[in-house]
Amino acid sequence: MSKYAVVCIDGSNKMMEDGQIVTVPFLTTRKGAAKEKENKRWMVNAGFPQEMEVKLDMNHLDEGSAALLHGLVLASQPTTVLETGTHKGRSTKAIASALVAANHGHLYTIDIENFGVPDSGALSDLEMQRTTFCVGSSPDMLGQLPIEEPIDFAYLDAGHHEPQLLGELEFVAEHAADRVIVVCDNTEDDMWPGVRSAIDTFVATRYEAERVTIPTMCGFDVITLERGHGEQGTSEEGEEGEEGSKEDAVGFGSGPPDTGQGE
Ligand SMILES: C[S@@+](CC[C@H](N)C(=O)[O-])C[C@H]1O[C@@H](n2cnc3c(N)ncnc32)[C@H](O)[C@@H]1O
Repeated sequence: MSKYAVVCIDGSNKMMEDGQIVTVPFLTTRKGAAKEKENKRWMVNAGFPQEMEVKLDMNHLDEGSAALLHGLVLASQPTTVLETGTHKGRSTKAIASALVAANHGHLYTIDIENFGVPDSGALSDLEMQRTTFCVGSSPDMLGQLPIEEPIDFAYLDAGHHEPQLLGELEFVAEHAADRVIVVCDNTEDDMWPGVRSAIDTFVATRYEAERVTIPTMCGFDVITLERGHGEQGTSEEGEEGEEGSKEDAVGFGSGPPDTGQGE
């Protein structure tokens, strides 16, 4: 198990282990009771003398990334979302709550292990209605998911070894809508170098991919694949290239742009 420095709710900087059970007070903030102090916040131990028992799980994405993921889904309003690596549902909730807010779309999420998310209370009834949970190994089992429409958003956060993520990226590309947003976690994570190399390999061979790395806690890459994008000028027909590139745009390309044909 990994050790992480945890800024505890009591303000101390204790070293805690993933999986450790800790007891913490329920601290709240209250604004000042007089008008001149209403912009200040005081900490109140509102649960005193009760304390909460919590089992630490450091596998979840950070809260900023959860907000980012929620915002990306809410802003782009996808119809079919694929998530790999459900775990206990923190990122699942970030996505599902955005689908509920948009009143549109469905999430298919898969994990190799069943963490009992549907029964854990992690998701509201409305979020549950927009989510299908699957247990199985990715990418091998992705083809067996009951996905009906092409994928237009994917969040990939299952096993972080290169062949596995590469397989997931290829699956998404093969089952994608004309335009798909793919988000990968752990792209700047010394523990998982395979994530970055998988995306490097994928992007290098998929010339319609655009990629942005956001320096979150573990690194978040946002990749867009757009059918036909970046394929202009690939025709060997010279001036007839425009027509040729439309034909090329029927499927997602794989392989780098043929830059030798540009004159
Ligand atoms: C980092 S956790 C995911 C955390 C979650 N996305 C979140 O932020 O709340 C990775 C998850 O991937 C799952 N996993 C690992 N290998 C897998 C595989 N081959 N297929 C499916 N899930 C896998 C693990 O069981 C684990 O629950």
